[in-house]
Amino acid sequence: MRSLQEKFQKDGYLILKDLYSAEACDQLIQRAQELASNYHFEGHPTIFQTQEQSRTSDAYFLSSGDKISYFFEKDAFNENGELKNDLFHSLNKIGHALHDLDPVFSQFSRSPQLKALAESLELQNHVIIQSMMIFKHARIGGVVDVHQDASFLYTEPGSCIGFWFALEDATIENGCLWAKPGGHQTSLRSWFKRSPLGGTEMVMLDETPITIDGMIPLEVSKGTCIVLHGLLPHFSKPNTSGKSRQAFAIHTIDKTTHYPETNWLQCNHALLRGFAN
Ligand code: FE2
Repeated sequence: MRSLQEKFQKDGYLILKDLYSAEACDQLIQRAQELASNYHFEGHPTIFQTQEQSRTSDAYFLSSGDKISYFFEKDAFNENGELKNDLFHSLNKIGHALHDLDPVFSQFSRSPQLKALAESLELQNHVIIQSMMIFKHARIGGVVDVHQDASFLYTEPGSCIGFWFALEDATIENGCLWAKPGGHQTSLRSWFKRSPLGGTEMVMLDETPITIDGMIPLEVSKGTCIVLHGLLPHFSKPNTSGKSRQAFAIHTIDKTTHYPETNWLQCNHALLRGFAN
């Protein structure tokens, strides 16, 4: 029988059913609702109508690495910049330091079973650098274009590994992940970084297009963890169904690698911790 680590090296992803109980998933969903209900939206612009709005939104995003910040769906606002729905159902995600700043998310991120999984994958040098509550609400949850996570958490050498948790069943209808087995055996195409001119830029490292040929839907049940290699291209379709597809994701890097100061996400690396509680 192939070890988990061998399977991960071969496929670029792993699916671990029932890593978390339904209760643990519900607790996270409830906590995210509480956070959202305590969030007082003061109109930081997330639609880019003017240069000033673009700058303010960039600053909010770029400073979110060590905060709990709130990001909206792109279709959440009307032409006057007002929310079309209630605030909770307008949110795309909350990030990017839930794993350190919120006790409920921290406990989920450093559970005994996740620690054991990381040990079996020999990730003893990996630390959690980012986390996101992803809502993918019914009907408004937007597309996530095909990408490699290592573009957003660039290290030298590459080391990014993601852990994606289905807090609800994820199906083709409500926008599950898609990926190709073995798709990680490829080059890193781009690097999303801070631009010297301010804001961010996507720098091309390899112009070879990423094709979605051979990608399959990763339909998983509530409580499943999908481990994603940083080079594995993946995407999800918009949620046009009547059921939300809430997920929590954490991303890890090897703390012994070089993490450029020009990476979009910045935080205090001395404080980064692994999976041990
Ligand atoms: Fe991703």
